[in-house]
Amino acid sequence: MATQTFSLPKIAARLDRLPPYGFELINQRIAQLSAEGADIIRLDIGSPDMPPPQPVIEMLQRSAANPKYHSYGSYRGLPAFRKAVAAYYERRFGVQVDPDKEVLPLIGSKEGIVNLALAFIDRGDAAIVPDLNYPAYTMGTLMAGGDVILMRLDPERSYAPDLDTLRAHPDLRRAKLLWVNYPNNPTGATCDLSLYEQLVAFCREHDLLLCSDNPYAEVVYDGYRAPSALQVAGALECTVEFMSLSKLYNMAGWRLGACLARREVIEALLTIKSNVDSGHFRPIYEAGALALNQTPQSWIDARNAIYQARRDALLAACPSIGLNAFKTSGSLYVWAKVMNGDDTAYVQSALEQAHVSLTPGSMYGPAGKGYVRISVGIEDERLQEAIVRLRAWYAKQH
Ligand SMILES: Cc1ncc(COP(=O)(O)O)c(C=O)c1O
Repeated sequence: MATQTFSLPKIAARLDRLPPYGFELINQRIAQLSAEGADIIRLDIGSPDMPPPQPVIEMLQRSAANPKYHSYGSYRGLPAFRKAVAAYYERRFGVQVDPDKEVLPLIGSKEGIVNLALAFIDRGDAAIVPDLNYPAYTMGTLMAGGDVILMRLDPERSYAPDLDTLRAHPDLRRAKLLWVNYPNNPTGATCDLSLYEQLVAFCREHDLLLCSDNPYAEVVYDGYRAPSALQVAGALECTVEFMSLSKLYNMAGWRLGACLARREVIEALLTIKSNVDSGHFRPIYEAGALALNQTPQSWIDARNAIYQARRDALLAACPSIGLNAFKTSGSLYVWAKVMNGDDTAYVQSALEQAHVSLTPGSMYGPAGKGYVRISVGIEDERLQEAIVRLRAWYAKQH
């Protein structure tokens, strides 16, 4: 039989528009160094290091033991979970939504962020994305064939967008979505309700859907309380808010979140999702509902006190490692300017020589050039060890 050569079909041109996921590149280098025996301390990834509340884990175990709970669920998710999300929004923010029509469970908010772009963005459309941003806003837009309009966030404005500059953007007419995220990844910047009021007014004026990505609403310090964009009167008409249990209850690996929006937005997203996924495993919804309904505020406060102490240790260390930190009251990160030099060179040198992994700010957009992001999602002893190593590394160079 003649041997045939096989040619793999050409990968879709869509992928040419997507830069490689930044963390993938960091992961590859860390894997190489680890294989060579290096003990790398990872301050790059924003994943909680502590477990979820114990009753949540026990509920997952009990529910998984039920032989009836292993079949496909509903595309709209478990009603009890949707109810728990709505009840949490009412309790925490005074926001009322219909759990059956205005809440949709997600397989982590990242999934919903990307699928929302597929639901709203056609070729030639655009999404307004903050420069600095969580990369999924950009990636979703590009995957959908749309263009990104960058909206600069500057430290001089405490990383709030400049809506007057945006108003004058020549491509504003093409935009359909406007993404914001406070408490912010990567800067940690927070906002008050007045920013959401301005954003809702701006989005109404320009027929934009305001996409408020709010996974860090409960990762806050110094007595700060984060608002929801949906607290603005009438916001539900023009706003979709994404919430997530990843950071709220240390459940990042569980992949559970939700979005809240008017019925048409939920239905459009559901049309995409029901053709892509088939909902979550029922025990995850049940445990997620329990987390939302029963976790006391004292559990969140105690967890945040640990993060706050780590943030303070990092803020104190920054001047001795050539960084000028931006003090913030939210998110899992310290955002700091490299005093002399380039963020990529700083991060590379810290990884290669101190075996401490940080994230270069330029991964979050052009405005991140010259900054680094440091995560507090790491055990206290490892964080202390990282600070010792970074100090010794920096002192050797200067
Ligand atoms: C701003 C922001 N949005 C969304 C996500 C995604 O979270 P999830 O785990 O819910 O997909 C993250 C995760 O780090 C994030 O930082």
